[in-house]
This record gives sequence, C-alpha cells and structure tokens, in this order.
Amino acid sequence: MPIVLENVSYTYQPGTPFAAAALREVSLTVKSGELVGLIGHTGSGKSTLIQHCNGLLFPQAGRVTVDGLPVAPKSKDLREIRRKVGLVFQYPEQQLFEETVELDIAFGPKSLGLGEAETRRRTRWAMGMVELDEKLAGASPFSLSGGEKRRVAIAGVLASRPKYLILDEPCAGLDPQGREEMLRQLRRLNEKGLAILLVSHSMDDVARLVRRLVVIHQGRILYDDPVRQVFARAAEMAELGLDVPEVMKLMLLLREKGLPARQDILTAEEGQEEILRVLSHA
Ligand SMILES: Nc1ncnc2c1ncn2[C@@H]1O[C@H](COP(=O)(O)OP(=O)(O)OP(=O)(O)O)[C@@H](O)[C@H]1O
Ligand SMILES: [Mg+2]
Repeated sequence: MPIVLENVSYTYQPGTPFAAAALREVSLTVKSGELVGLIGHTGSGKSTLIQHCNGLLFPQAGRVTVDGLPVAPKSKDLREIRRKVGLVFQYPEQQLFEETVELDIAFGPKSLGLGEAETRRRTRWAMGMVELDEKLAGASPFSLSGGEKRRVAIAGVLASRPKYLILDEPCAGLDPQGREEMLRQLRRLNEKGLAILLVSHSMDDVARLVRRLVVIHQGRILYDDPVRQVFARAAEMAELGLDVPEVMKLMLLLREKGLPARQDILTAEEGQEEILRVLSHA
C-alpha cells in the first residue's frame, strides 16, 4: 500500500494579500519500499508537500491517503498515519533535548505508550540502524559531533518503526564524510525494506542514491521519472535554474571537446570508467 497525493493544492494565508500558492494540483504516489528523491528550487513547495504526507498540513483541495487511510483533520487514523510516516525535518538535531542519547531516541516509543522493555529494545534497534555506537547511549546528545547528532535525531524517528521515512535535506550541513555516511545509511535502511522520500538540493546526492526522481517547480510536479531520464534533460533543468550532477557536467564538457562521452553518467565511479573508455578509443 502506498502514500497517495491526488490533485493536492495548498495556499498559505489564503484570501490575504500574503497568499502564497505552495502546491498546485500535485499528484504523487510513494509505494512501500521505494526510494524516491524530491528536488526543486527554494520555495518550490518541497517542505509543504512532505508535511501533507503525515497530516502536519491538510490539503485544501484534493486528497491524501496513507495505506488507504485518509489524511484529514478529524481522521481517527491520524495517530496511526503519523506512526507509519516518519518525518525528519531539516536540522532535526536542533530538536534534541533529553539528557542522554538513549532518552532522546526513546521519546517516540514512550509516547506511543510502549512499555520499558520494548522501548529499550526499539531504542537499541534504532541506534543500530543508524550505526550509532551503543557506548553513546548514556552520553549527552550535546557532546556529539554534528553527524552523530543528526543520526540520533533520525534514530528517534526510526524508533517508532515507521514504514515510510521522509527526510528534508538530511545531508545539509554535514561534511563530505558525514554526507557519504548518511547516504550509505539511507541506502541500507531502504534495503531493509523502509520506503524513503528524500528531499535534497544536491543533485550529486540524489544521483548517487535514488532510482526515481521527482522535480517540483513553483508548486507543480514537472518530472517524475527514473533519475537518469531526468538528468538527461540537462538543458531544460538549466532553464529552470536546476543543476545536474558535477560528473555529468564533466561529460558534457568532454562532448564539447569532441570526445564521445555518454551523457547518462551519474556517479564518480561511472565517470571514471567512461573517461577511461573514451580515452582508450581516442
Ligand atoms: N508558513 C508559511 N507562511 C506563508 N508562506 C509560506 C510558509 N511556508 C512556506 N511558504 C511559502 O510557500 C512556498 C513553498 O514553500 P516551501 O517551504 O514548501 O518550499 P521548499 O521547496 O521547501 O523551499 P526550501 O528549499 O527553501 O526549503 C514558498 O513560496 C514559501 O514562501
Ligand atoms: Mg523546505
């Protein structure tokens, strides 16, 4: 069963001079176990869209369902919906507030009304899922590195055992090694069956991680295609002010120089192979 948005429209402060149409007839489906990227300019509606997936916002027009349950203000299923759809905000570590890592991660399961033993079990499980050393359980979250804090925050969402994990810019502010680790862990979580919707500004990150890429522009979904197909439209993307992965720009440059480099190259490893291939034929 999926998360389904059908013709969803949403305007902030409607009927006022400050009205801002954030979503315009957006239709999108995220199936169980999928790994989907969502990209778009600042202000394009990404955060507004994802908040519709677990009932932080409700559609003003159109319909949202999670595994068939309607996401609506008075829905009796909202609690269940919010448990199924875990939302990780940008800079979630700013919301860490407990004395220890373990207590912080346990907050979700506790508020689900789970007992001590199950809460503890889930907390340890969630720490394992984001590869946080068990030794850190008793540490203050504030003593951790930036990447570790981010992982504690994500573990806190995972501890409620969501079926869908939606992350708003999970790599923002991390150093290259932290980004790399975050992407690797997201891939691992997805391989374990968790559906992931990843909001990102980084074309390189989505190119490395996702198979399906959704592009949103001024509140409308412009593309929803396999990632290579989206980036193959480099010129159209540029017109929208959106970038393509760095390695793809390098391939374009080679083509301009008359070398027959493929254009659907997404990762550094593929780029390396392609350069060697092109040079061996030159
Ligand atoms: N609380 C709010 N009140 C009024 N307008 C808002 C509010 N939040 C967002 N908007 C407007 O809605 C539109 C979509 O914003 P949204 O935050 O969803 O974009 P975004 O794609 O997440 O941007 P970013 O990449 O900067 O995070 C923008 O025009 C924005 O100014
Ligand atoms: Mg946003």
